[in-house]
Amino acid sequence: MNSFCKNITFFMLVQAITIIPLIASSSLEPDQGHLDDNSRLSLWYKTWHVHTVNDLSNNKTLLVHCKSRDDDLGIHNLTVGTEFYWKFRPRIFGGTLFWCYMAYDNLHAAFKVFWEDPSLYAKCNYGDCYWIARDDGIYLKDIPGERDEYYYDWELGRL
Ligand SMILES: *[C@@H]1O[C@H](CO)[C@@H](O)[C@H](O)[C@H]1NC(C)=O
Ligand SMILES: *[C@@H]1O[C@H](CO)[C@@H](O)[C@H](O)[C@H]1NC(C)=O
Repeated sequence: MNSFCKNITFFMLVQAITIIPLIASSSLEPDQGHLDDNSRLSLWYKTWHVHTVNDLSNNKTLLVHCKSRDDDLGIHNLTVGTEFYWKFRPRIFGGTLFWCYMAYDNLHAAFKVFWEDPSLYAKCNYGDCYWIARDDGIYLKDIPGERDEYYYDWELGRL
């Protein structure tokens, strides 16, 4: 083969390698629902934010300590009306999970704040999850529903 033929062959090989997976993946699309595609795309390509908000009464300090398997986001003492938030891109191969420990007075709670769940993605409006600490428990803001949903109880006996 002369070098022109070698180049053409190499070029076509590269084309085939890049195009075949595209065809293969797009042929899978019709099997998945529209919502599924939407949440998949959002999950893989978007930057998400998780917000933790102190909405307690009487100027109480809220202690927030959030983590994932890979990251410890540190201890934050929030005054009323302030928030701690972080951003992340979900793991492409799945398994994204964040959880938080929160405490005030002699009450505490430990709970998941981001996990793989299409109903959670929808409540977070595919971008921002708001966890709001109130005197009676922890709420998740359902952004499209325009309401705060009661999610977790406080437990007695802070560690
Ligand atoms: C609330 O607490 C913060 C920090 O402890 C303090 O700086 C602020 O003055 C307090 N505000 C009120 C209204 O008590
Ligand atoms: C937050 O508050 C806890 C106890 O209320 C205290 O032990 C800790 O040092 C505080 N951390 C920071 C970063 O202020």
